[in-house]
Amino acid sequence: MEFFVDIAEIEDVKAVEEYFPIDGFTTNPNILTKTEKTLSQNFSEYKEYIEKTGYKLFVQVTADRAEDMLAQALKLREYFGENLVVKLPAVKEGYKALKLCKKEGLPVCVTVVHSLNQALLAAKAGADYIAPYVSHIDNIGADGIRCVAEMVEAFKEYGYGSKVLGASFRTAEQIERLAGVGCHAVTITPQFFDMLIAHPSTNESMYMFNKSWKEKFGDLQVTDF
Ligand code: G3P
Repeated sequence: MEFFVDIAEIEDVKAVEEYFPIDGFTTNPNILTKTEKTLSQNFSEYKEYIEKTGYKLFVQVTADRAEDMLAQALKLREYFGENLVVKLPAVKEGYKALKLCKKEGLPVCVTVVHSLNQALLAAKAGADYIAPYVSHIDNIGADGIRCVAEMVEAFKEYGYGSKVLGASFRTAEQIERLAGVGCHAVTITPQFFDMLIAHPSTNESMYMFNKSWKEKFGDLQVTDF
């Protein structure tokens, strides 16, 4: 499974990648408003970092019309290079932009996806990634995990090459359940990585290891033999 960090500032990616294996990072227009840095500063830091690491970077267009989305996509591609995946929204103009971007050979993620139908049309048009908003789907009375499972199955059935990139989570269990249905990728906040590995039984076992060791050996380390 690919793991991406959903962030605004590059420091947050660095803090995660120091501990965990990641494949890159994702942004969206909302996330980019939640930083004191200017857009140019963030973007130049992203660029420098993806060039150094080879990570994928997902940036969403802000235009409303397909032709303008394409123009933005091309400008972003020119700036960030091959590691950029352009995010297009699953609205009508976004589908038109998807066809235009694929003609230009750009990697594309169709985002804010809330249904299998939206995903199917994006996959058929050649989207590289499709990003369903899992918790938002739950919030509207549907089942986010089931929706992802249906996408994974349908893409296999029809031979579509798109990867499902799960986004919008509230619980660590959602990630396990997505892995269980073969979801290809997820994007999560930096804090979520810590949630994924947190387990009270692990802490309890560690407490016991440390306690019995200290009782017997004090400050001795395992390498002091
Ligand atoms: O990547 C999607 C994410 O930013 C949406 O988050 O908090 O609205 O579920 P949220």
